[in-house]
Amino acid sequence: MMEEELVRLQEEAFDSLSAIKHASEFEPFRVKYLGRKGLITGAMRMLGQVAPEDRPRLGQLANTIKKEVEEKFESRKAQLAVTPISAPQAQQIDLSLPGRSIPFGKLHPVTQTMEEVCSIFEGLGFTVAEGPDVETDFYNFEALNLPQHHPARDMHDTFYIDDGVLLRTHTSPMQIRVMEKENPPLRVIAPGKVYRCDSDITHTPMFQQVEGFLVDRKVSFADLKGVLSVFVAKMFDEQTAIRFRPSFFPFTEPSAEVDIACVICGGDGCRVCKQTGWLEILGAGLIDPEVFKMVNYDPEEYSGFAFGLGIERIAMLKYGINDIRLFYENDLRFLAQF
Ligand code: FA5
Repeated sequence: MMEEELVRLQEEAFDSLSAIKHASEFEPFRVKYLGRKGLITGAMRMLGQVAPEDRPRLGQLANTIKKEVEEKFESRKAQLAVTPISAPQAQQIDLSLPGRSIPFGKLHPVTQTMEEVCSIFEGLGFTVAEGPDVETDFYNFEALNLPQHHPARDMHDTFYIDDGVLLRTHTSPMQIRVMEKENPPLRVIAPGKVYRCDSDITHTPMFQQVEGFLVDRKVSFADLKGVLSVFVAKMFDEQTAIRFRPSFFPFTEPSAEVDIACVICGGDGCRVCKQTGWLEILGAGLIDPEVFKMVNYDPEEYSGFAFGLGIERIAMLKYGINDIRLFYENDLRFLAQF
């Protein structure tokens, strides 16, 4: 009786295997016949109930059947995997369709611009220094010749964190941090984020600056002009008009702001350049002797220049973008263009 049952089970399993047409049918088959609660496994458990003298023979038969079903199961699986698609199926597949492309990310345009700016200055022999975004009043203002109640502090629209602690409003504190530790000659750039309570089409509350400074004997304003002219020629092109406009910073004397011709309107005047034809990209000047005194450099022996440029402004000019806020809205339709 048991013997017949086993043979019938094997035939049934073989028939089901032959009838399988799709890979998704293999797992249900395995569960039904070969799984722990499957029919073949179940039949083997029944062996305990047959007469002891029949047990060895039936046990052997059951094992053989299980092995054969397993073998046929594997070979049917392999067979189906290589079976070529049938003619009607082939008609539904358009082999001329292009493959699906995998979207990949890119560096943010501001990051790309930052890297380009830094590499130009590195090419001119400047080394990179980095410092904290959360800064003390001392480094951000005091040591830069901006004592308490100095009117120029108002221009910075500072985000204060605590008494004497703030989000740095510019990268200039890095001048102090580096000069405190190292002696001239120095040729350093300090890239990083800065924060001001300010927002319109050319201002964002967080933006990025690159500070640059060079200290040595006999450094003059001509050196500053030379370095910045090379930078603008490399970043834009040789033809880009550039102008130095007298200005004031408490930590430089004399001071200037540098503008380049507005590339949005070609210098005719537009919303971005506020109809002036020029866009300010940086502030600069010769380092004030008061700053040198703060870091124990002798102003009689050393002189130097410093500049601080706004990276988003450079990116706007480079890519012809008329609203700085677009950089920080995270709209992929905008970002994917770079
Ligand atoms: C300064 O921050 C000075 N520390 C620069 C400096 C360094 C002068 C060394 C002398 C020597 P200013 O506030 O002008 O200066 O800012 C410098 C540049 O940052 C500006 O030319 C402009 O390009 C950019 N900038 C200023 N405010 C914003 C803002 N809210 N959003 C985007 N860019 C800004």
